[in-house]
Amino acid sequence: MSTFSAPKGTYDLIPPDSAEFLAVREALAAPLLRAGYGYVETPGFEQAELFSRGVGESTDIVTKEMYTLTTKGGDQLALRPEGTASVLRAALQRNLHRSALPVKLWYSGSYYRYERPQAGRYRHFSQVGAEALGAEDPVLDAELIILADDAYRSLGLREFRILLNSLGDKECRPVYRAALQEYLRRLDLDEDTRRRIEINPLRVLDDKRDSVQRQLADAPLMRDHLCEACKAYHEQVRELLGAAGVAFEDDPRLVRGLDYYTRTTFEFVHDGLGSQSAVGGGGRYDGLSEMLGGPELPSVGWALGVDRTVLALRAEGVRLDLAPGPRVYAVPLGEEARRVLFGVVTELRREGIAADFAFGGKGLKNAMKSANRSGARCALVLGERDLAEGLVQVKDLESGEQSPVPLDRVVTAVRAKVG
Ligand code: HAM
Repeated sequence: MSTFSAPKGTYDLIPPDSAEFLAVREALAAPLLRAGYGYVETPGFEQAELFSRGVGESTDIVTKEMYTLTTKGGDQLALRPEGTASVLRAALQRNLHRSALPVKLWYSGSYYRYERPQAGRYRHFSQVGAEALGAEDPVLDAELIILADDAYRSLGLREFRILLNSLGDKECRPVYRAALQEYLRRLDLDEDTRRRIEINPLRVLDDKRDSVQRQLADAPLMRDHLCEACKAYHEQVRELLGAAGVAFEDDPRLVRGLDYYTRTTFEFVHDGLGSQSAVGGGGRYDGLSEMLGGPELPSVGWALGVDRTVLALRAEGVRLDLAPGPRVYAVPLGEEARRVLFGVVTELRREGIAADFAFGGKGLKNAMKSANRSGARCALVLGERDLAEGLVQVKDLESGEQSPVPLDRVVTAVRAKVG
């Protein structure tokens, strides 16, 4: 133990769990690579105002959860709590929207929210995300949902559900918002919630308390207030998902915790995760570019939580086929053997064969213990007598059989053995 430990709400990824984490990250991104999304990487911090304007002044993320700091130069920065605003900022700054549209980008990295930590909710977490900028086309919304579904399925996840909703657009949403406010103002609610009605009434629908939910049974729904264009758009997304065999549930009460959404919104929830059940989510954000001072740029995207996806795999008991450890473990006995055998290990690795070495001058017994623990298929044992005869002992760690092989043919012999 050192004097220090990881900050509250964070955890270190260490072997062997870290291998699972990496594999999940890769699997979540793989369908995006096949669909023409290009990799984008933005800084871990941005001007704080990017998020307050983008994610929304009244959201929990901005009011309670942002890690903000003032630099020595007086800039107000924030550790990024999400990726969409940053990616759009980068695309606008680099004029990507002047090229062929949509611009399709994917990203993977760390995000920070000062939340109350609990299982599945951390202050530092990882997302794999995708953003398709500059096209208003239901096929694009469907593409993204299908790609996320493919990603989860490729990992072997089965017990997740897709919740789908439309939040309308700048025509129909204000009308709905007013109707919802009128309904909510008549309810018996606490001061905080009453304030929320005036700032962000849709969030009230998301209140988890029974006492509130009971009163919301007859609340007006966006679904019944969609304009004709939004209704038709949403119907097309639904049909495209159906045609692709992607099951979803219409959830007219789905509101997301970020303010930029318009029209299509969705969440992937996993039933084995308890209260932090959202493994991923996203939607369309047709007005965000203008909110950031950019041109009209209707866009859609999602972010999938890597941490929660790992938890979901565990909840379902799915074990991933992870990259194996070393195939070969080298055990030198003596100084000269160390030098020679390390040369063999280097050669094996250059040939693409994963190999490890008994470092630190371990004795035979300890070194063989390490070899067995490493999961390698065979051990190369080189003692002084072997060395004098130009041989190395190749020991099959499964059968225990051992045979001498000329040192200059050891790479070929090992390749034949471990494939
Ligand atoms: P979000 O729903 O805030 O959306 O986050 C997406 C996913 O990140 C969640 O479903 C969850 O799996 C994971 N996540 C969020 N907060 C935490 C946390 N504190 N601990 C662990 N995992 C967490 C967004 O971030 C949007 N930018 C998604 C998007 C992209 N919309 C359009 N494009």
